[in-house]
Amino acid sequence: MGHEDIESVLLTEAEIKARVRELAGEIAESHGDGELVAVGVLTGAFVFLADLVRHLRNPVRFTFVKADSYGDGTRPGELRLTMMGEQDLRDRDVLVVEDILDTGRTLAGILAILREKGPRTLRSVVLLDKPARREVEVQADFTGFTVPDRFIVGYGLDHAQRYRNLPFIGVLGVGG
Ligand code: IMP
Ligand code: MG
Repeated sequence: MGHEDIESVLLTEAEIKARVRELAGEIAESHGDGELVAVGVLTGAFVFLADLVRHLRNPVRFTFVKADSYGDGTRPGELRLTMMGEQDLRDRDVLVVEDILDTGRTLAGILAILREKGPRTLRSVVLLDKPARREVEVQADFTGFTVPDRFIVGYGLDHAQRYRNLPFIGVLGVGG
């Protein structure tokens, strides 16, 4: 497959494609036809977001957030959010789109900050959930796949900013 660093393929391109289509169906069913504001979490969610929203027939506005954690290196720090695009979430139906739920700190922090902006509804969709590493109690409203406690890359997920463009999701080999 030409990716020597990938130990094994966890989810094929076809499996991801089929599940993303289903997720869009679940979202449309629960939201109805109304307008959504999709909040993509940079950078990892960009591939998932692009595929997901093309299956939605709802009118969609977009914004992107960058979440940075400021800590002392030993403990997770406070989350700082930078928002790009649509800022006014008051009374809107907001859907946070994230690549993976790991410790849960990022999604929990983002939801807490966005909730203060007064959305009518605030929901989240994650492509992947790695429950083994959860530190904060948070659950996405829509989940694509539950994955084992391995470091995975592809379809938006990176290691040192590489592999995001792989069309599949694979386990990164040791030393990769
Ligand atoms: P959390 O705050 O620990 O839930 O972190 C979620 C973020 O960690 C995701 O948005 C990813 O950027 C990153 N992450 C967690 N697990 C992996 C992985 O297996 N591969 C690549 N990135 C990951
Ligand atoms: Mg991320």
